[in-house]
Amino acid sequence: MLGTFTFHNPTKLYFGEDALDGLYEELPKYGKTVQLIYGGGSVKKNGIYDAVVNILRDCGKTIVEDGGVMPNPTTEKLYEGIRIARENKVDLLLAVGGGSCCDYAKAVSVSVHCDEDPWDKYFARYEDPTCPIVPVGCVLTMAGTGSEMNGGSVITNPAQKMKIGKVFDERVNPRFSILNPKFTYSLPMRQTVAGVYDIFNHICEQYFSGTDDNVSDALSEALMRSVVNASRIVISEPENYEARSNIMWAATWALNNLIGCGKTEDWMVHMLGQAVGAYTDATHGLTLAAVSLPYYRLVAPYGLPKFVRFAKEVWRVDPAGKTDEEIADEGLCAMHAWMREIGVAVTLHDLGATEDMIEGIADATILMEGTGYHTLTRDEVVQILKESL
Ligand code: NZQ
Ligand code: ZN
Repeated sequence: MLGTFTFHNPTKLYFGEDALDGLYEELPKYGKTVQLIYGGGSVKKNGIYDAVVNILRDCGKTIVEDGGVMPNPTTEKLYEGIRIARENKVDLLLAVGGGSCCDYAKAVSVSVHCDEDPWDKYFARYEDPTCPIVPVGCVLTMAGTGSEMNGGSVITNPAQKMKIGKVFDERVNPRFSILNPKFTYSLPMRQTVAGVYDIFNHICEQYFSGTDDNVSDALSEALMRSVVNASRIVISEPENYEARSNIMWAATWALNNLIGCGKTEDWMVHMLGQAVGAYTDATHGLTLAAVSLPYYRLVAPYGLPKFVRFAKEVWRVDPAGKTDEEIADEGLCAMHAWMREIGVAVTLHDLGATEDMIEGIADATILMEGTGYHTLTRDEVVQILKESL
């Protein structure tokens, strides 16, 4: 392991069937007014909303409602959330939902006391907050993004057809996150597997870079094997607690900075997926799934030893009598077979993209330079998108 790094993750986690009780410990630390952030209504159907509201009332909080956060939260919704927070002088932003609610809460948190336009400052110019930050807490209902333990926030600007992620520093991490695997039982299977692929790809993005032997890569391999194993169980047993809990815990560790320690990271699949998302508003994990295989097949020759290691360690490919190219290819084929098995082997067409969008999606794709094994040219971006159609 050759890299130097600082690791500090300030998010406190409460994990397990009784995790929601952690709110009794956390809520008294903050002022009276809580902005209760949630999505399109799933939390009202599965009872999580009522359970949270009861605890907020027990703790004497004034609740300010902020529902309707859409998957892939937009700038327009962000401006509404900032207005709600300002008008009510809220003390805590409590996100009850998936990555979209949690990301949105973070974007509001850094914007309430900021005079500048948050899209321009944070997402277009990648600047860091210079104003006071309103604390965020999270009750997670969907496993995938890792937003519950990181400083990331992804916002979509539909007018500009751009979807951009800003990784804020640790001040923006949720102060606490409540992780009850049972809260994910009610997820539609399509969302569950989209989350699973998102987790898997977060690990890939950090794994497929660098050439030194690295503890982080060994941790990544263990996480990938766990995710694959649990996903195979959950598709036939959606209420298998063990599988749900492994998926939830793996999601958190896949993107809370740990497995990126001492490494360069790639993130090109996410740049392609986000550009697809900006054009189609498709489910995040599925946008990644659609472009992954063409991307990895293109870059594998540039990082062959790692793709060989991936095949052997994650997919248990038997290397006997095979060339490195054959082993690497067998690993990617095994990954593709698993994607088909869990139902994420989708095309861009399946997600609503059409041939005439390709140039626009390529324009919206941010090119990562020198992060992974190969810096894509624009022509290669177009090639990958066409192969993903
Ligand atoms: O809106 P509701 O009605 O709650 O329904 C949601 C939504 O339709 C539903 N859902 C969530 N929990 C549920 C449930 N339905 C039934 N039962 C439950 N327990 O699932 C749908 C998707 O939710 P969403 O929060 O959008 O999913 P996800 O967690 O995948 O978040 C996606 C967003 O996170 C960003 C993505 O780009 C996307 O905007 N990301 C954030 C990252 C980060 N902060 O580090 C990294 C990721 O790479 C990702 O880019
Ligand atoms: Zn992701």
